[in-house]
Amino acid sequence: MEITNRADLDFGSLPFGYMKTDVNVRYTWRDGKWDAGVETDSEILPLHIAATCLHYGQAAFEGLKVYEAQDGRILAFRLDENAKRMQHSADLLMMQSPPTDLFREAVHRVVRANLRFVPPHGSGAALYVRPLLIGTGPEIGVKPAKEYMFLVLVTPVGPYFKAGFSPTKLVVVEDMDRAAPLGVGTAKAGGNYAAAMRGTVRAKTEGFGEALYLDAKEHKYIDETGASNFFGITPDDGYVTPQSPSILRSITNLSLRTLADDLGYRVEERPVPLEELDSFVECGACGTAAVITPIESISVRGKEIVYLSDGKPGPHCTKLYDALTALQHGDAEDKFGWTERIEV
Ligand code: PLP
Ligand code: COI
Repeated sequence: MEITNRADLDFGSLPFGYMKTDVNVRYTWRDGKWDAGVETDSEILPLHIAATCLHYGQAAFEGLKVYEAQDGRILAFRLDENAKRMQHSADLLMMQSPPTDLFREAVHRVVRANLRFVPPHGSGAALYVRPLLIGTGPEIGVKPAKEYMFLVLVTPVGPYFKAGFSPTKLVVVEDMDRAAPLGVGTAKAGGNYAAAMRGTVRAKTEGFGEALYLDAKEHKYIDETGASNFFGITPDDGYVTPQSPSILRSITNLSLRTLADDLGYRVEERPVPLEELDSFVECGACGTAAVITPIESISVRGKEIVYLSDGKPGPHCTKLYDALTALQHGDAEDKFGWTERIEV
């Protein structure tokens, strides 16, 4: 179906930011079950002043993108993986979680209600879907809430890193940690993002695109950036990405490992020592928002390791980016079954 009432926006130059859309959907978990949910145009949440999400951080979110294919189909990318990860986050933060069927219903419902905000095929933008799970029941003792809200909002977005698919500089921060190995770094917990804001803000103040964190236990291995996973390419076509108990299991990275293998790279998921940064021929930051952001250079202890000196993405990141986005945008055959159609 063609979208005939598309929002009057300059889709090609959208930032990665929030914009009001028509509808968000909200489900409540109370007395042991999820309700049927409501659609609302309100951007405001009435919240108990003692809600556990406010005081004790019972809050987790997800992020996935929806695209319009050339033939007008509306495609969501790996929605079931996001549902599973929200369930994992909920388990770690002792929250009730929406089962995959409910997660799917909510995403389809909110996208259908905001169809006019889906960016046109080829615009470079996407409809960003942001599921949020919060403890809404009041507690003053530290314990799990007895009530939860699962809310899904959407907003059309452009690239996360200002320049989009063009090189960004990272800086390794050694005096701050994002998440601890036995903590909740694998959860998409709101608190992990508050914890990473200091590093990101300082990195940006110093002229970098993002901070790159090390493992919190030994400070010897690469973990990830504040909002994306990390990978490096070796001179002999290895796709190397950190295995760590404190990073978010990126669905983009999961997909890239499959695609890299398919493209003939040797995929290695293992601890990546800081010293190894010197040996990569290219590096990338990957995530739903970041897609693949090629890394121009990484600064470590005052030394800058330069990967791209001409301001252009390298051939490896370009090959991986093209393979990933062709699938996401419905331009390539979906041989892994990663996209699902939202019937409108
Ligand atoms: N790591 C962090 C800390 C993130 O916030 C994100 C973004 O979602 C990612 C990695 C990438 O994960 P995904 O590819 O599932 O979006
Ligand atoms: C995403 O890529 O979906 C993220 O969540 C990253 C950031 C905007 C928090």
